[in-house]
Amino acid sequence: MSEWIEACAADDIDEEDLIRWDHDGGPFAIYHTEEGFFATDGYCTHQQAPLADGVVIGTVIECPLHQGRFDIGTGKALRAPVRIDLCTYPVKVENGIVFVKI
Ligand code: FES
Repeated sequence: MSEWIEACAADDIDEEDLIRWDHDGGPFAIYHTEEGFFATDGYCTHQQAPLADGVVIGTVIECPLHQGRFDIGTGKALRAPVRIDLCTYPVKVENGIVFVKI
């Protein structure tokens, strides 16, 4: 059963940036975009590069290793070499705290 987990303070992530969040054995990526906060798996689906080292461009994350791209909100693979979509997770912000539903 999934539940809301407290991840970080909203202030911990600059707009148009992301952080790595380690929880339950896996890294996740939490993003602050112009459209709000989002969360995905922390590794690229191509060759497992850590997305926290990537670049946020609007609502897109660009992988640091081969510059594959994903839509941050949907996880959809947008640019080769990535072909497998990224898992995404619901996010909410309450009283300045970011919660992720895992
Ligand atoms: S590891 Fe991300 S594009 Fe290759």
